[in-house]
Amino acid sequence: MSLLTPRSVRISGWGSYAPDLVLTNADLEKLVDTSDEWIRTRTGIRERRVAGPHETTASMAARAGRQAISVAGLDVDDIDLIVVATLTPDHLTPATAVLVKEAIGNTTAVAFDLGAACSGFVFAYTAADAYIRSGMYRNVLVIGAELLTRFLDFSDRNTCILFGDGAGAVVLSASDEEGGGMAGMELTTDPDGAYMIWIPAGGSRSPATPGSVASGDHFLRMEGRETYRYATRTLASTALRAIERAGWQPQDIDLFIPHQANVRIIESVAKGLGLPIERMFVNVDRYGNTSAASVGIALAEAVDSGRVKVGDRIVLVAFGAGFTSGAVALTWTADPAAAGRAIPHSVPLIRDPADWHPADPIPPRLLAVLEAHGHEPSARVAMARTEAIVVDPQRETREVPA
Ligand code: UT7
Repeated sequence: MSLLTPRSVRISGWGSYAPDLVLTNADLEKLVDTSDEWIRTRTGIRERRVAGPHETTASMAARAGRQAISVAGLDVDDIDLIVVATLTPDHLTPATAVLVKEAIGNTTAVAFDLGAACSGFVFAYTAADAYIRSGMYRNVLVIGAELLTRFLDFSDRNTCILFGDGAGAVVLSASDEEGGGMAGMELTTDPDGAYMIWIPAGGSRSPATPGSVASGDHFLRMEGRETYRYATRTLASTALRAIERAGWQPQDIDLFIPHQANVRIIESVAKGLGLPIERMFVNVDRYGNTSAASVGIALAEAVDSGRVKVGDRIVLVAFGAGFTSGAVALTWTADPAAAGRAIPHSVPLIRDPADWHPADPIPPRLLAVLEAHGHEPSARVAMARTEAIVVDPQRETREVPA
């Protein structure tokens, strides 16, 4: 391997994917003691997406990732490394990134996952940047993807109203041109917050048992108020550190892409930095909190909606379980019109291992609401779709006919 260090490391492609199924606040009113008004005023969330039974974290990641590769104008085999940031992997092992590699048809890349919860996309961005800066790789696919609705207790109003599913991706590439890309960064980890957001069972400390399942220990738990306090304390200071390392001032930043957890948290970041809310990109109203996917989805939407132009100074900033926080201050260099190269979302499913069939993955309480909506996301439908799937013998992956 020759280690040719590049002059800069830049975003060359971007993409995102959100499932079709929409879960509104009104739907949640049928499940827990809550109201549209409470959710909107306390969080800014109006609706979120829910993955269908045939979708997985890897399949959503593959869709966003393929889009990012096509926007970059690259061939899938130009990607040397795939990093998937997620707290909701398809399996404990193999890494979700391995399934993504197969699904997008890449034959060359190294692939692994990274776990930093909602800060995962930003952590993965800095790792990819370092690999490329060192000369080890030239094109890295960074994906944040989550299927959180499989890990939510739809009888717990403290958590089930907040989260949604989706994936966001960028390709980072070595460039022979000076300037552009990441100019400053900051990552933090605070173990005091280790059990503020967590999933008690399913890992080696508390493997799955009938008892752990019965007590709901495989669902996500959160101390909302403590997490809120941490976020409002930390996000602005983490962003500021990255901005200072870049040699910039907060007012020099054209657009912040903050983690989309709660619009009140985003407002407090703007206030903490002395900036108007217009400098913050917000889409939490439509997706809820998609954890590691949120910054990637927001970045792709910001570019595609004309909020970003060449030369803009952008800050990606996130916080999450751990507690963790991370920020990247960067100069945008890619032509936003390159999004026109994005391929449509007709994408491979993830191969099932031989002799294994997953159970209907959607929590039953949620299933009932979605079916009342006219969606048919039940196991019966999943089976019917599986039978209609076309097997591609060359790649051994499967495409759902349009
Ligand atoms: O990516 C990181 C993930 N996590 C986060 O970012 C979460 C950060 N935390 C938050 O965003 C907020 O703390 C929440 C949105 C989770 C909660 O908002 P809050 O303003 O901090 O409410 P609270 O926890 O202080 O609760 C206020 C009241 C309580 O009732 P009492 O004790 O005052 O009678 C709660 O029981 O609101 C009640 N409540 C609800 N009411 C209706 C809590 N959840 C709900 C609900 N609907 N869904």
